[in-house]
Amino acid sequence: MFSRIARPTTTLVRSLSTSSQHNAKVAVLGASGGIGQPLSLLLKNSPLVSELSLYDIAHTPGVASDLSHIETRATVTGYMGADQLGAALKGCEVVVIPAGVPRKPGMTRDDLFNTNATIVATLTDACARHCPQAMICIISNPVNSTIPITAEVMKKHGVYNPNRVFGVTTLDIVRANTFVAELKGLDPARVNVPVVGGHAGKTIIPLISRCTPKVEFPADQLSALTGRIQEAGTEVVKAKAGAGSATLSMAYAGARFTFSLLDAMNGKEGVVECAFVRSEETECKYFSTPLLLGKNGIEKNLGLGKLSAFEEKLVAEAMDELKGSIKKGEDFVANMK
Ligand SMILES: NC(=O)c1ccc[n+]([C@@H]2O[C@H](COP(=O)([O-])OP(=O)(O)OC[C@H]3O[C@@H](n4cnc5c(N)ncnc54)[C@H](O)[C@@H]3O)[C@@H](O)[C@H]2O)c1
Repeated sequence: MFSRIARPTTTLVRSLSTSSQHNAKVAVLGASGGIGQPLSLLLKNSPLVSELSLYDIAHTPGVASDLSHIETRATVTGYMGADQLGAALKGCEVVVIPAGVPRKPGMTRDDLFNTNATIVATLTDACARHCPQAMICIISNPVNSTIPITAEVMKKHGVYNPNRVFGVTTLDIVRANTFVAELKGLDPARVNVPVVGGHAGKTIIPLISRCTPKVEFPADQLSALTGRIQEAGTEVVKAKAGAGSATLSMAYAGARFTFSLLDAMNGKEGVVECAFVRSEETECKYFSTPLLLGKNGIEKNLGLGKLSAFEEKLVAEAMDELKGSIKKGEDFVANMK
């Protein structure tokens, strides 16, 4: 069993597997993939999940059969192909979506747009029809565009609730925590770096000045650390040399976000995670900031807070790219037949 991992931060208590037991039906769409399989394993291992619904266009019967033998209480059902999508989503409280193609060396996340935009639009259209109240957590890239796509699709069905649609950026926080801990000789489980903005290159903005515990770096090291966090996904893509992008660390991050959400839905107080959501905090319609989560999703957007001059510049420099990616997602749905 995974041990309980809890890390108190400002108002945040982070845990990968809580001891409390609740009933939630969670769906993973893209469950047979590099992220989908280990993510489903982590979800199957959680006492927060009572039903695990696994959907993909391939291999789900095998993945579901395999996971169903694990001695935890969550029942596991596999669904394969478009005609089983509705059944997979019925009654789901949380839907996590890692479906879509990953990057190969030399590609940006935006290069995935053409394939993944259609996949995300199709899957969220089904969510709007079959589980319109569910929390929707999008992992599929480019997140800076797939979240506006999700919002526009939900709007078309008249069921968009901005408090329930999340672009999962948790891996950026996980990486920032790890890299800061490495540099400062800290226990990574005790480090918390908020990461704001979006989820691609320079739109990923780690707020090192707001790290807990407080850490300081000389300007050149701060700049190198920020660059490494922004390009950490590319580090993995290069190391995998054509075999895809981050899967195991993303599964961890996706599970962490899902458990935080389930904890908050179950009434736990003070649960804070950053995610890319509809936002009034900057001139960008969608922006990631720390969010206080509650029974109905986002309870309060905690906003950008105080930034250093270096971070203010990073935010300013990210705006144009973010706005472009958001518009691209919105235009895609507007032009959909
Ligand atoms: N948000 C993040 O931080 C983050 C990090 C890493 C990867 N990603 C993204 O996650 C996505 C998945 O990555 P991966 O490595 O698991 O890829 P993968 O190719 O290993 O798996 C993708 C899965 O999606 C399935 N799929 C494709 N079309 C589908 C559809 N219409 N319906 C249901 N399932 C479908 C495939 O069959 C496959 O099993 C990519 O878009 C990648 O860029 C996001």
